Amino acid sequence: MVYVVNGRSIMNSGAGKPPEFNPWAGKPVSQRKKKLVHVVARIGDVRLREPLEFVDSLIEEVTDRTVDAFLEQVKDGSWATGGWPQTFTDYSISKLAVNAYTRLMAKKFSYRPEGEKIYINCCCPGWLKTAMTGWEGNISPVEGPDTAVWLALLLDQFVACKFFAERREINF
Ligand SMILES: NC(=O)c1ccc[n+]([C@@H]2O[C@H](COP(=O)([O-])OP(=O)(O)OC[C@H]3O[C@@H](n4cnc5c(N)ncnc54)[C@H](OP(=O)(O)O)[C@@H]3O)[C@@H](O)[C@H]2O)c1
Repeated sequence: MVYVVNGRSIMNSGAGKPPEFNPWAGKPVSQRKKKLVHVVARIGDVRLREPLEFVDSLIEEVTDRTVDAFLEQVKDGSWATGGWPQTFTDYSISKLAVNAYTRLMAKKFSYRPEGEKIYINCCCPGWLKTAMTGWEGNISPVEGPDTAVWLALLLDQFVACKFFAERREINF
């Protein structure tokens, strides 16, 4: 059983163009092995991702602490000088958190006995021409799910806790 999470269900190719249904989003796409693919985004800020990068040493408290610190600074108005990204700030923190929590979940499920394992990975679809980018990306919405589908269906090794883009494992 394979799910692709966070993918768009309706693909809109641009203003004035009719929306198309994305057959992959949120749907089970294979019955062979249990796999889960989270669609997230690459985090460019090395300093931000560093404490959350290494899955072997990653613990929930570190992720909670990073997210809580950001929320606190947003509440008291001090986030701008807190070392967070100055652009796409909330988007970056939310993606960082989804990525880190996904890795924690992936680690837990990869320890299960054979037959009960769930292979969970993250991927970045690239810079897409969708509503999110105001259709300014360089990849069409049809090509966007390529790595997610490859992870779910085509990659014949069973890997977990990894991050992929353009069908390659990359750093978070
Ligand atoms: N576009 C890029 O360049 C890019 C780059 C890196 C990563 N990503 C990631 O790829 C994924 C898809 O991005 P996209 O470009 O296709 O974005 P999009 O065009 O803005 O579509 C976002 C999708 O999420 C749904 N959605 C938003 N808020 C939701 C909520 N609270 N509950 C349930 N569904 C919700 C929207 O539903 P409605 O249509 O009903 O509003 C829409 O189908 C996202 O996770 C995004 O962060 C995108």
